[in-house]
Amino acid sequence: MKLTDKQKQFVEELLNKMTLEEKVGQLNQDSPSIVGGFDVPFEELIEMVTDGRMSQEEFGKIMATAERDFHEDDIRAGMVGSVMGNDPIKANELQKIAVEETRLGIPLLMGFDVIHGLRSVYPIAIAEAGTFDDDLMERTAKMAAKESRAYGINWNFAPMLDVARDSRWGRVSEGPGEDPFLGSRFARAKIKGLQNNTESTADYVAACTKHYVAYSACEAGRDYNTTSMSTSQLYNVYLPAFKAAMEEGACSAMASFNDLNGVPCTVNSYTLRDILKGEFGLEGFVVSDANGIRECVTHGIAEDDADAGIKAINAGLDMDMGTRIFYNHIAQAVKDGKVSMETLDDAVRRILRVKVWLGLFENPYVPQEVIDMYSKVLPKEHVDLCEEAAEKSIVILKNEGSLLPLKKTSKITLVGELADRADEVVGAWSLGWEASDCVSVKAGFEAAGVDFEYYPVCGPEGDLNADELKAAIETETDIVVAVVGEYKSMSGEASSKADITLPGHQQEMLKKLVAAGKKVVAVLMNGRPLALGWESEQLPAIVEGWHLGIQMGTALTKVLFGEVNPSGKLSSTFSSVNGQEPLYYNHPATGRPGSKSKFTSKYLDAPVEPCFPFGYGLSYTTFEYSNLKLEEDSEGIAAVFTLKNIGDVAGTEVAQIYMQDVTASLVRPVKELKGYERVTLAAGESKEVRIALRKCDMGFYDNQGKYVCEDGLFRIYVGGNSRDLLKDEVRVKF
Ligand code: GLC
Repeated sequence: MKLTDKQKQFVEELLNKMTLEEKVGQLNQDSPSIVGGFDVPFEELIEMVTDGRMSQEEFGKIMATAERDFHEDDIRAGMVGSVMGNDPIKANELQKIAVEETRLGIPLLMGFDVIHGLRSVYPIAIAEAGTFDDDLMERTAKMAAKESRAYGINWNFAPMLDVARDSRWGRVSEGPGEDPFLGSRFARAKIKGLQNNTESTADYVAACTKHYVAYSACEAGRDYNTTSMSTSQLYNVYLPAFKAAMEEGACSAMASFNDLNGVPCTVNSYTLRDILKGEFGLEGFVVSDANGIRECVTHGIAEDDADAGIKAINAGLDMDMGTRIFYNHIAQAVKDGKVSMETLDDAVRRILRVKVWLGLFENPYVPQEVIDMYSKVLPKEHVDLCEEAAEKSIVILKNEGSLLPLKKTSKITLVGELADRADEVVGAWSLGWEASDCVSVKAGFEAAGVDFEYYPVCGPEGDLNADELKAAIETETDIVVAVVGEYKSMSGEASSKADITLPGHQQEMLKKLVAAGKKVVAVLMNGRPLALGWESEQLPAIVEGWHLGIQMGTALTKVLFGEVNPSGKLSSTFSSVNGQEPLYYNHPATGRPGSKSKFTSKYLDAPVEPCFPFGYGLSYTTFEYSNLKLEEDSEGIAAVFTLKNIGDVAGTEVAQIYMQDVTASLVRPVKELKGYERVTLAAGESKEVRIALRKCDMGFYDNQGKYVCEDGLFRIYVGGNSRDLLKDEVRVKF
């Protein structure tokens, strides 16, 4: 976000005209209140859904027709700075009140959760990060921004940048995986895609990096739980992606629910003012997460709402999402001298600057022709981009005897409820999709003319249908494609799980199919890494399909039948059993690294190694790495190596470079991803690949939050995943 001097001047002049109440109004983000249209109080409705008396389906239907209060009178009084929603007609109505019926005509920010697409839903972030394709990640964000504006949204609560190491946490699905370097590259791509196409106000939105910070380090992988860590861990693991986003000019950040080292992030001036606004230079503003300010009372850090609000704004939190605590208490707090006018002005200034940068004063409304454009079918280029992203996100985890790709001519048995659930392909945090746009795996098979029989048999919940299983076993074909995994509701917010093996009777179905002599290709449809110990040993083929978005069925069909050679890799480690979590590749060695000998760091009842390592993914061809040499210059170290496609089909490899700082003043990870490149090679083709590593990227943060580069021995690794690597080493002087 870059403002001209003229724009900054405009903001100062506007600020000087504002009353105390109007300033406080800008800090207030309102969501439409549910006011009825059903025969029980809203709270009772929530209870009914929570305790299962009402299905999500039923609840959705009621919500779609519920009467809402959009707080028009408060907007008219200049007491609302932002609203939430994705209806362009309503957005124009509310914007018209703000612009034409208030004293100063300050437009509204229209915020919404557009995490991986709005109408054109592409793969969940943990999947898309596994493409290691920065250009793709930028293009999908650009598409999301364009669609957001068309639906009246000018502020996306995205990207989610929580690097996550514990797959029990349901929100691993929303973020870029376990690695800070990949998370940083993901962050840069997403901010560029969302914010940089400023030629037209139809093409860009304000980003909102979240959840700031270390929310994913919640103890035991339990959502909203406490987090505590050293300063070096905070800086080396959880802050890099946010730092990268701020360097790309991200407009805003969302404070996370968790307490960090005893201070909730909503009222944490160290992380908000010292680091985010101070060191990282956030020019825009910080919004709380939903209800976050009020929860500071529950945290036990504030006496009451007013105390929580005062602590929040003084700590650097600028906008209140959904509690109206700022609306109710900040004006009085200023009068009482508990909040200075400078603090209030700084918060308002940050918000106004984003509104000016968005062009809202000149173009506050969504043009009717744009609204019409999206009301019918999706633009073809959007659908094609969703398909490309889906194809590149698919990871082949196992392919014994090259069972894959399947022959188009062979007859297939397809099983699994999820294979026919077009509504499940979109994954968690998809709020704007249309069923008519979604392609299930079964629909993908049908569209491609695959000769198959389909038996649902079972899904992530409910019983196993023995008759359907029997029928599936009795088919004459010996190849069974089993689509198994999780509903989209089993990942995302408030979806932590203690058991991350395949839910329901799905594993039982697989075991019976294997026992019947079927060759089973498991296609996983899931939001988190699953514990796949049994599957990885007993199944001949496993395809990680994640929740790939609206083109999931099309993409998976093309990959399964060889029309597309997959290139996806894992952005997160997969465990064999639950108890291994949290499990990640970039861990310290310890003094007794896990091994077969007794007195080392391991479990008696679980493997030392992960089931599938970070960065792992197979192709239908084979890539060979050789001739690694290191070239050092004043800039840094370059790893130069030969990559050869020794198989018989063309393919794309994500070549990865890792580094180990062998001896340092703090223990360092056994390896850290420091670079990657997608390399496409024809069958038999080889290429010299050079991936440079800058010296300034070879350091780490110490426990004073200081970045240090220490002379010494460094090991450099290259390969197609974090385990099978070529190695060399070099002494570096900084
Ligand atoms: C939720 C989520 C956050 C989301 C916000 C608004 O509680 O934590 O990711 O952006 O509320 O929906």
